[in-house]
Amino acid sequence: MATSDARAVVDLDVTGPTISRHLYGHFAEHLGRCIYGGFWVGEDSPIPNEGGLRLDVVEALRALDVPTLRWPGGCFADAYHWRDGVGPKHERPVMVNTLWGDVEENNHFGTHEFMALCELLGADPYVNGNVGSGTVREMSEWVEYLTRDGDSPMVRLRKANGRDAPWKVPFWGIGNEAWGCGGHLRAEAYADLACRYATFLHDHGDNRLYRIAAGASDDDLTWTEALMKAISCLGCTARPRGVFQGISFHYYTFAGDGIGKSSATDFTDEQYYRTMVKAADIDRVIAAHSAVMDAYDPLRQVGLVCDEWGTWWQAEPGTNPRFLHQQNTLRDALVASLHFDIFHKHAARLRMANIAQTVNVLQAMVLTDDDGGLVLTPTYHVFEMNKGHQDATSVPVHLVEAPEAVEVGDDRLAPLSISASTKDGRALVSMSNLALDREATVRLDLRGRAATATRARILTADKPQSHNTLAAPDAVAPTEFDVELRPGALGSTELTAPLPPHSFATVELVLG
Ligand code: AHR
Repeated sequence: MATSDARAVVDLDVTGPTISRHLYGHFAEHLGRCIYGGFWVGEDSPIPNEGGLRLDVVEALRALDVPTLRWPGGCFADAYHWRDGVGPKHERPVMVNTLWGDVEENNHFGTHEFMALCELLGADPYVNGNVGSGTVREMSEWVEYLTRDGDSPMVRLRKANGRDAPWKVPFWGIGNEAWGCGGHLRAEAYADLACRYATFLHDHGDNRLYRIAAGASDDDLTWTEALMKAISCLGCTARPRGVFQGISFHYYTFAGDGIGKSSATDFTDEQYYRTMVKAADIDRVIAAHSAVMDAYDPLRQVGLVCDEWGTWWQAEPGTNPRFLHQQNTLRDALVASLHFDIFHKHAARLRMANIAQTVNVLQAMVLTDDDGGLVLTPTYHVFEMNKGHQDATSVPVHLVEAPEAVEVGDDRLAPLSISASTKDGRALVSMSNLALDREATVRLDLRGRAATATRARILTADKPQSHNTLAAPDAVAPTEFDVELRPGALGSTELTAPLPPHSFATVELVLG
């Protein structure tokens, strides 16, 4: 097999921005089998559950240290009325989820169930409010219901529904995709609405809300600019921390071959590489949004939030196409590992990123069936292998000798991607070899601190189409990986890692 040589310098003593743990966040919508059948089976289910929440899913996700969970949408957020989802379940009204499959939604999973799920996962809740079909009062009262202590109309309602103490809710979304399913608004019209809604989303007691305005699709910079102008206006700065603290954008990865969405598992080399080109382009998109924000907010007080990202393929044959249930291959795992390297690079402005969606929908962590079966996806393993980057300090990686770029139509793809961070006397290095036909022998000059490898793992398979099923749950799973460490020049350590084609590896180091 052909081999490329690569060399990179990793400055272990140079500190970059902190990689917020919220870059490893998740998104769960009332869509297909994400909530119902995924997280929620109901108290009467034979599938082991705690208060209706599926315990195998919770256990699998706890191993990822899920930092954030965004809910209830997505597009569904702008159709959702929170009062329908509190109180005795048999009294909750049924609605039709016209957005996703025109199916009945019985509201059995509502505010209390979501907060119980976050508590089981140890995740911070990110509640996305309804601008499109809701009211300022409705959203304001939801915040009061969740976070206020003492006595008030909403506190009394919460207590009547069985919860005395307020919850902590750090993250709040003001609508979703307001340019589309959230109301088809113009950027300026939405920016005014976002200011108005945010004004009535109060910090109750010591709960400090991080209000996130619904942002652009991909590289729609005019949308980001309209929001930054609104945030900088005189009236909006009346609140000391600004009227909203974050601006989102959404970025999905398709194969980009001009023929619409393609199969999750049956793809050509050309489609594989086009997928990687599209995934890598999020680097340019984040840089462009950041540049617009820098012009209005040079101190980077407003965060950029990628509150939906991931692959979007054709639904699995035989499933409801509006349920967005797709398989997940080694290709998806490499899309994730590449995104994380890029997220780490932009950690100074990018404060949160939530993969769409955690269970059974789009680029999921776990796939479940209704008989109690559960499969961990290749993407799950990337989140697990990379979790040491959460709240770590990014350190610079200089690629001084890179494998030759892959020509993909008019685009060029850099096949090797690396990022590194340090935390608590340890370092974590992540490396992806995206090439399909060649190994990359990577030599890292680890400088600035003495380093010893404690564990190296690799995620790969014989082909990028490989995926996990109930019959073969570990077709794509991490295995131990042999790396070589020896003294390098000027007190550095040289680490050599032979990365096979289409592979992702992590090396954990103890620093002296
Ligand atoms: O994640 C699926 C959908 O994609 C979300 O509901 C919407 O926000 C986006 O268009």
